[in-house]
Amino acid sequence: MRVLLFGGTFDPPHNGHIHLLQQAIRAVAPDWVVVMPACLPPHKSPSTTAPDLRLAMCRCFEPIFPDLEVSSWEIEQGGASYTIDTVAMLENRFPGAQIFLTVGSDMLLSFTGWKDWQQLLARTILVVQSRREGDEEQLAAAAAGLEQKGGRVVFAGGTPLEVSSSEIRSGRGRKNIPPQAREIIRRYDLYRPHPTISIEGARRLAKRTLSDKRYTHTLNVKKLAVKLAKQYGADPDKAALAALLHDIAKERPKAELLQILQDNAIIAKGAAQRPVPVWHGICAALLAQHRWGVQDEEVLSAIANHTAGKPGMTRLDKIIYLADMCSAERSYPEVDWLRALLAQDLDRAMAVSLGQNILWMRQQNKPIDPVSLAAYDELRRPYHLEAF
Ligand SMILES: [Fe+2]
Ligand SMILES: [Fe+2]
Repeated sequence: MRVLLFGGTFDPPHNGHIHLLQQAIRAVAPDWVVVMPACLPPHKSPSTTAPDLRLAMCRCFEPIFPDLEVSSWEIEQGGASYTIDTVAMLENRFPGAQIFLTVGSDMLLSFTGWKDWQQLLARTILVVQSRREGDEEQLAAAAAGLEQKGGRVVFAGGTPLEVSSSEIRSGRGRKNIPPQAREIIRRYDLYRPHPTISIEGARRLAKRTLSDKRYTHTLNVKKLAVKLAKQYGADPDKAALAALLHDIAKERPKAELLQILQDNAIIAKGAAQRPVPVWHGICAALLAQHRWGVQDEEVLSAIANHTAGKPGMTRLDKIIYLADMCSAERSYPEVDWLRALLAQDLDRAMAVSLGQNILWMRQQNKPIDPVSLAAYDELRRPYHLEAF
């Protein structure tokens, strides 16, 4: 069996990469191709594009070969990605397979600087590709040097298609981005400076994005969240920002929310299996991070968990959850009682409100999020509230 490994940062993947992979496939005739975006590439400065989104953009490789997988393995390992570790993983997964490693010209010239490069030479066959016209001689010399040290080198040949990811990031050569990657760039507005959205910016965004009814709700949540933050010692600005963005994805179609969860498959692992009403908060946090430059983990957590809660809720998480439950336009039977409790005791109000919601969902035969049940079980204990 022949396994072809095609690794890179892919920030973003472009037609030059597709061309290289096609040439390598032609040269090697592999049974299986693994496209492997790196987590932190050891030879380059770290990418600022979220690993999940680089992984999602790599879907553009799928149509070019039937037996091809885009692997999240290096990203899931975290930290610096070393090819030798990936090769060891592939040897485990495909015992006895011959592993082919694609190496661009720049990489071939620096190959003896790679971690355990002698091991790589012994355990893989290098598939070398020119990335620039006119570098053939230099490559042939480098390859001959590696062959003298016991390496096996295949030249993929063909004319290079000169495209550079860094040019694309700086706004040139966008025509060289395959449609699947272009869609991710558009959805998250990648490769443009993303200063953190201001509170006023978030308000304007909510106003132009949401229906009048939901915008009013959002303003009410903000007002109460800021009041609670001042009362309970949280940061009122963080509360305002989280409140203004908490429902920003609520009116997007379910298919689009699912797409966002799939684009962020590692960071949002398991989210697509949670009940659909939970999705809009998680998606709002992902959009806040990728599109609107919100880096504050507390704000992102409060947005993501405003529907279901989570074990280990922070003060800000509770404030946004309860501001959402008790905002001025809410009129369910227990709301006035809950408002009175909230004015006295944030933690107790949180436990009671989450318990009420779980009970209501159970009565309505709606699916109950296991994350909510775990959160409730933790919150109820100090108050000896009923277990579910
Ligand atoms: Fe919501
Ligand atoms: Fe809401």
